Amino acid sequence: MSPAIAITNDSGNENEKEERQYQRGVKHLCENGVSKVPDKYILPVLDRPTTNHEEDNLFNKDNLMLPVIDFAELQGSNRPQVLKSMANACEQHGFFQLVNHGIPSDVISSMMEVSRRFFELPFEERANYMSSDLNSPVRYGTSFNQNNDKVFCWRDFLKLMCHPPSDVLPHWPSSPPDFRELAASYAKETKFLFEIVMVAIIESLLGEVGTTTTKKKKTKEEEELLEKFQNGSQLMVVNCYPPCPQPDLTLGMPPHSDYGFLTLLLQDQVEGLQIKFQDKWVTVQPIPNSFVVNVGDHLEIFSNGKYKSVLHRVLVNSMKARISVASLHSLSFQCMIGPSPKLIDESNPRRYRDTDFKSFLEYITSREPKSKSFLESMKLTYEN
Ligand code: OGA
Ligand code: NI
Repeated sequence: MSPAIAITNDSGNENEKEERQYQRGVKHLCENGVSKVPDKYILPVLDRPTTNHEEDNLFNKDNLMLPVIDFAELQGSNRPQVLKSMANACEQHGFFQLVNHGIPSDVISSMMEVSRRFFELPFEERANYMSSDLNSPVRYGTSFNQNNDKVFCWRDFLKLMCHPPSDVLPHWPSSPPDFRELAASYAKETKFLFEIVMVAIIESLLGEVGTTTTKKKKTKEEEELLEKFQNGSQLMVVNCYPPCPQPDLTLGMPPHSDYGFLTLLLQDQVEGLQIKFQDKWVTVQPIPNSFVVNVGDHLEIFSNGKYKSVLHRVLVNSMKARISVASLHSLSFQCMIGPSPKLIDESNPRRYRDTDFKSFLEYITSREPKSKSFLESMKLTYEN
């Protein structure tokens, strides 16, 4: 695959040269030595992490302990209670942390470790995977949406499409030599975990919760939906946030919501993720060996607004590089997504249009990324 972005061309005026330099990513910038954040990454004052309104209390370190869901407990006699906690978390935070998930710890630590090694490869090797084609099975890049962003973010990424494995895996990086195997094993495990968590979420949303039986029999609708998820899309995003000399001036990721049904995020022990909770930015405290799970736009639509896809962003720091692996799951690209008929009646009218992935991709390529604007465009009513 040839890089779609010119990286070796040294022609052009100074501005063009500088622009090309930024397209190569923050890791490359840092490797060449930076003592100050270049203008390209400096946010307008109001968008900076520390210049939020005073009540944000950032300096008081408003850390948030997200609701914790015990996956093992979910499979046991306590399932009805856990489903209730899950429903509360999805309604109020749009986020929870999943512990005791059963994925072997070596699968997780190997994924983190091989991701780190990928970003340590010489720039020329990483650049082999650069592409401006959003449909490419593998895409190395920088910032949030590098074709549109006026101000760049302090983040490089590797995006891997995961489904169907036989089509996409041959395109995944062949270096480091064990990358493909370790990432494929991690992708498979997270996909399986997603399916089980998704069944529980649908049950918490549509099913009658409150019985003492461990698992209720799935309805036909639930069976069909599960099959659609099994054949659904999975995008894995490996994020790298190098240490930043002036972390107050920029962000690793701007405020955004995720588009799919659920995101399973693996973060290392370096803090950085913040979510918007009760109009404040609060830092999510990492729990070792857990996943941060969040509601995406498609689940908000499916739940007719009951479950919320919440805005989140990433802070950077001057001390340590941070790596995270986000696994975004949804239905396949052609499937239409709309509110579940079970949740709509006369007193609960439909609040979102039907949508599909394709229109979402067209939307984000044609627009500046701006908060939850895609979801807003799908809304039929604007109460609150
Ligand atoms: C994402 C995301 C958060 C993080 O990849 O969509 O929100 O902590 N990542 O890297
Ligand atoms: Ni996100």
